Amino acid sequence: MKSLIQGIHHITLCPGGAQQDLDFFTKVLGQRLVKQTVLMDGNIPIYHFYYGNADADVGSIATCFPYSRKPGRAGSGQLSCTSYTVPAGSISFWKEHFDRHAADNSGVQERFGTKYLRARHPAGLLFEVIEERTDMRSPWTTTQVSRDVATRGFFGAVLSVRDPGEQESFFIDALGFHKVGVDGPYHRFEVPGSGPGRIVDLYVEPERTPGSWGFGAGTAHHIAFNVETDDALVKQKAVYEELGYTDASEIKDRFYFHSMYVRSPGGILVECTANVPGGFYRDETPEALGTSLLLPPWFEDQRTAIVSQLEPITVPEENRPKSGATAAPRAPVAAQTPAPDSAIPLSRYKATFGADKQAT
Ligand SMILES: [Fe+2]
Repeated sequence: MKSLIQGIHHITLCPGGAQQDLDFFTKVLGQRLVKQTVLMDGNIPIYHFYYGNADADVGSIATCFPYSRKPGRAGSGQLSCTSYTVPAGSISFWKEHFDRHAADNSGVQERFGTKYLRARHPAGLLFEVIEERTDMRSPWTTTQVSRDVATRGFFGAVLSVRDPGEQESFFIDALGFHKVGVDGPYHRFEVPGSGPGRIVDLYVEPERTPGSWGFGAGTAHHIAFNVETDDALVKQKAVYEELGYTDASEIKDRFYFHSMYVRSPGGILVECTANVPGGFYRDETPEALGTSLLLPPWFEDQRTAIVSQLEPITVPEENRPKSGATAAPRAPVAAQTPAPDSAIPLSRYKATFGADKQAT
C-alpha cells in the first residue's frame, strides 16, 4: 500500500514535576520550549509542554504531561526511548555533557552500524543521541549546547515489545513502513520518504512486564505520525478499520493539529496527526514560542481555575526569545493564522476545571 504516513510528528511522555522536566529538556537535552499549554482531555489541569528544534519542526517535537500526581509503570508495550540526531563526531561532547549534569547515561553504544548514547530523565524516561551526517534541520542552541553538537530533531523512536510479530504487521500493513533489518533484539522499520524522523526500532523484550497504559509519571504515553491533510486522517482511520483495528478514536481537535488514536497490537498507543494551517505559530510569533501559558480558546474562560492548580514554573533562560539562535528565521506571516473550518467532524472536550481537583 502507499503510505499516508510521512514520518514522526511528535512523541508524548509523562515526566513527573513540571520544573524538573523543563530543566532537563532545556539544559540537558538543549531543546527549545516551543509551547506551554495544558492537556485537553479530562477535568484536571495538567501542563502540556512542547519541546523542539529552532524552527519547531514537525518531527522534532517531544511533548510532556508532567504527571507528578500519579506514578506509571514503565514496561513493554510502550515507547522506551526517544532518539535525536546529532552531528557526526559529537557523541564525546554528549557523554561529557550528560556527566556534567549528573544524568545517568549508558556510555557509547552502536546498533545498525551507528553510534549512540543514552541518558535518563530524572523521571526515568530514556533519550538517546545518534550521530547522523545528513540532518540539515536547524538546531536550538544554549549556553552549553552549541550548533556544532546540538540535536537536529528526531532520528526515530525505540518501542519495547514482547513479541514483534503482530506489531510488525501493524507497522507494515496499517502504517506503510518497510522492514529495514534486524540487529540483535532491534527490528528496524522505515516509512518511505526523504526527510528525517522516519525510523522506528522495535526492541524485543519477551520477558518484560507490560507497562501501564494510562497517564503516569515515568512512562511514554504515545507516538504520533504525521499525515498530510484531514482527509488523509479519515483515510487512515478507514485503513485501520479495514484491517480490523476498529478501536480507532474519533478525530480530535488539538488546536495546533488534528489527531486520531489507535492502540497497536504490541500495546503502544499510536496517534496520527494532520497539521492545522499555522501549526505552532497560530497563537504566538516565532520569536515568542513557548514563553507564556496558552490555552485553547474553548478553555480560556477557565484560565484562573486552571492556573491556580498548576505548579509554578520558571521558563529557563535558554528558552526565552533571543536573536541569532535560528539559522533560518521563519517568516512571521505564519504567525497567528486563523485555521479555516475543518471539512471533517472534529471532537473537542469542554472540560470543567473545578478548584479542588489537585487536592486528590
Ligand atoms: Fe499526541
